[in-house]
Amino acid sequence: MSLALQTDGFDIASIRADFPILAQKIYGKDLVFLDSAASAQKPRAVIEAMTHVMQAQYANVHRGLYFLSERTSDAYEGVRDKVAAFLHAASREEIVFTRNATESINLVAHSFGRALLRPGDAIVVSEMEHHANLVPWQMLRDAHGVELRVAKITDAGEIDWDSLAACFADGRVKLLAVTHMSNVLGSYTPASRLAAFAHQHGARILLDGSQAVVHRRVDVQAIDADFYVFSGHKLYGPTGIGVLYAKRDILEAMPPFMGGGDMIGSVSFARSTWAKPPHRFEAGTPAIIETIGLGAAIDYIEAIGFPAISAHEQILTDHALKILSEIDGLRLLGAAQDRGGVVSFTLDQAHAHDIATLLDRQGIAVRAGMHCAEPLMGRLGVTSTARASFGVYTTLGEIDALAVGLRRVQQMFS
Ligand code: ALA
Repeated sequence: MSLALQTDGFDIASIRADFPILAQKIYGKDLVFLDSAASAQKPRAVIEAMTHVMQAQYANVHRGLYFLSERTSDAYEGVRDKVAAFLHAASREEIVFTRNATESINLVAHSFGRALLRPGDAIVVSEMEHHANLVPWQMLRDAHGVELRVAKITDAGEIDWDSLAACFADGRVKLLAVTHMSNVLGSYTPASRLAAFAHQHGARILLDGSQAVVHRRVDVQAIDADFYVFSGHKLYGPTGIGVLYAKRDILEAMPPFMGGGDMIGSVSFARSTWAKPPHRFEAGTPAIIETIGLGAAIDYIEAIGFPAISAHEQILTDHALKILSEIDGLRLLGAAQDRGGVVSFTLDQAHAHDIATLLDRQGIAVRAGMHCAEPLMGRLGVTSTARASFGVYTTLGEIDALAVGLRRVQQMFS
């Protein structure tokens, strides 16, 4: 398949060679992997970093006063420095390792929500949230008596500022929890403007950066985010490792989420005290190998650089929107001004699952369904969509292959 041209300084052939999985064929066809928004593929650097820990330097962290444990502890804590620099956090103590973005949000809902919100306080989410940024707040509402409000989005898939303002009008909102990039519509939200708005109204802001952090440089201080969460596995790292960034004063005020080893100050049968953040929020043996894999993924991305990644993905997205819009009967969902490499669509009367299955037979992997955003499906007036999503290794040729594949699907249904 032709790789087609990319942007200056972006060597797509060499990037693809870094991802061993991409070289294979599916049903005898070149693999066209267009599901990076669900989980991205892993470069050799990540695979080798994780293998190296297990082969050469593995031991538990923070516990052993011996060579291997100290080396592994240094490597694990070194990734905290790396993540802090990656997000431009003010300090490494603001980086908490979790299992994934979902766990990060649950941690905030449980700990910040129960300890620092009061019954009668309100939380605002948008209509385009992933279930991970909705269900934990519903659980908090039901357990703790806070109110949950939903700000509307426009038909283009952008925040509806009138609706947002109405949600904040009575002064009771204490938290705005919103995506930084929709996993269905590809819309970016204006993070710093939302943060300023929340702060003017006396509320904190949590940004779900699971999608955004993969595609563009995130600076939590420039945004003035109170909480920022993401998962390692969408960022070309392994599963089982996620990040919660939170401002230091907020973490200091938050009680633990889970109890156990490593999160304590001292323990007696009568009572226990807590370690300072971030360890207060990391009970038990952490995902050591996965954390080190995340560090390798960040090194990999930084070596390519966000200017090149963002430019490459913008070309892909513009091309996808153009050629998919030329297919009669294909409906593109969302039309935000600021959007990234996630494109959802429906095609005539074909069910999204049929589209995905028929594309799969052509070697093309897309996601189909509700994308863990069932309320958004209702808002869009659909029951499901098919979704193509792009990563550093995606080529223009693959997007052309998707368009050809969709025309074949159409023929099968006509
Ligand atoms: N949240 C992931 C997605 O959008 C799984 O596919």
